[in-house]
Amino acid sequence: MSSLANKCILLGITGGIAAYKSAELVRGLRTAGATVRVVMTEAATRFITPLTLQALSGHPVRTALLDPAAEAAMDHIELARWADAVLVAPASANFIAKLAHGHADDLLSTLCLASTAPCALAPAMNHVMWTNAATVANVQLLRARGVHIYGPAAGDLACGESGPGRLLEPAQLQQQLGALFATGSLSGTRVLVSAGPTREAIDAVRFISNRSSGKMGYAVATAAVEAGAQVTLVSGPVALAAPAHVQRITVQNAQAMYDAVLAAAPACDIFVAAAAVADYRPAVVQTDKLKKTAAELTLVLQRTPDILASVAALPLAPFTVGFAAETEELIARAQAKRAAKALDMIAANWVGRPDGGFDSDDNALQVFWADGGVELALASKERLARELVAVIAARYRLKRAPH
Ligand code: PMT
Repeated sequence: MSSLANKCILLGITGGIAAYKSAELVRGLRTAGATVRVVMTEAATRFITPLTLQALSGHPVRTALLDPAAEAAMDHIELARWADAVLVAPASANFIAKLAHGHADDLLSTLCLASTAPCALAPAMNHVMWTNAATVANVQLLRARGVHIYGPAAGDLACGESGPGRLLEPAQLQQQLGALFATGSLSGTRVLVSAGPTREAIDAVRFISNRSSGKMGYAVATAAVEAGAQVTLVSGPVALAAPAHVQRITVQNAQAMYDAVLAAAPACDIFVAAAAVADYRPAVVQTDKLKKTAAELTLVLQRTPDILASVAALPLAPFTVGFAAETEELIARAQAKRAAKALDMIAANWVGRPDGGFDSDDNALQVFWADGGVELALASKERLARELVAVIAARYRLKRAPH
C-alpha cells in the first residue's frame, strides 16, 4: 500500500515553465491513491490551463481567494483543514519570498498560512535566482519553521543556462511526499487499538449502545501501520472496512472486548483505547423479545469490566493510552482519569458538540502525560491520528530509552 493512499493533497502551482510537470504529478499522486485538489496562482495559469488540471485531478481548480461560487462550495479555511499535506510545485522565488515573510495576498499563500498540515515546497527557477542571498535566506527561514524543501535538481534550465534550479521529476516529488507519511516512528512495535461502540443486549433483539462510529480508532490503527507498527484492532460493531495490514478482531459487547483486548495486550508494546465501551450492561438478558405489557419498565444495570484500567494494571503493561470523552470540565476530568487508571497518556476530546467527538469526520484532542501535554487542533480524524501517533511514538521511545 502506498503511504499516499487515501491522503488529501493540496497541490499549489506557481508561475514557471516547470508548471507543465504538475500535470504528470497529479496523475501520479492519484494513481498512488491520493485525492488531489489543485490551487494555482494567477501566473501559473499562463503556463498550464486550470482545465487540464481539473480534468486530471477530477476536482475544480481554485485560482482566486475572492471567488464567491468556489468559496460557497468549500471555503478556503475548509480547504486548508481538508489537506493532509500541502505541496507547492513548482514554487517560484517570488512565492518562497512571500511565504517566508507571511504574506497572504492570494489564495495559495493564504492557504499555506491557514493550514496546519505539513507543507513542502519544490523550488524551480534560474540558478542565479536560487543562489541569490535573498532566496537562500528565505529558504533557510522556511526550513527552520519546518517547511520541507524538495530539490531543486541541478542541470539544464529552461532559460538555456545550467545549474541548480530544476524542478524535481514528478516521481521524485511523489516519493518525497510519500516519505512524509511513512515515518517509521513505530517500526518494530506491536500496537493494539480498541475502537467503536459496544452493544449490551437487553433481550433477543434490543441493546444499549452509543454513537461511536469507530472512525477515530480506525484512523489511529491506520496511522500506526503507516508509522511501521504491527497492528491489532479490536473493534465493536461499526460500518467501516478493516484498514489495510491490520489484524481486526470484531466483538459485540464490553465483556467480549475485554476478553479480546486482555488476550492480545501481553504481546503488545502499546495499547490505545479509543473504543467507547459501555460502562453498564443489563444485569439480566432476556432470551426472548420483551413483551410490551407493563406501562413502565425498569432495567437493572451492572458495571462492565474496565478494559483500560485492567491493561494498565498488568504486571508487564504496554505503554497505555486512554481516551476521555467529556461534555464538561474536559481537562480536569481527563487528568483525573489518567491518574486514577495509571495511564502513560490520555487523549481528551469534547463530545456532544457539533464539531468533533462521536461520529464526526473531524476532531480535536488535548493530550496529557504525567508532566506535560500537547494540544492537537481540529483536523480530520485521519490527520489527527497521525499527529497523535507521532506523540505516542516519541513518549514511548522516551519511556523505553535507558536512563
Ligand atoms: O468512534 P468515533 O465516532 O470516531 O468517536 C470517537 C470517540 C469520541 C468515541 C473517541 O474519540 C473517544 O473519546 N473514545 C473514548 C470514549 C469513552 O468511552 O470515553 P470515557 O471517558 O467514557 O472512557 C475513558 C477510557 O476508558 C476510554 O479510553 C475507554 O475506551 C476506556 N473504557 C471505558 C469503559 C470501560 N468499561 N472500559 C474501558 O476501557
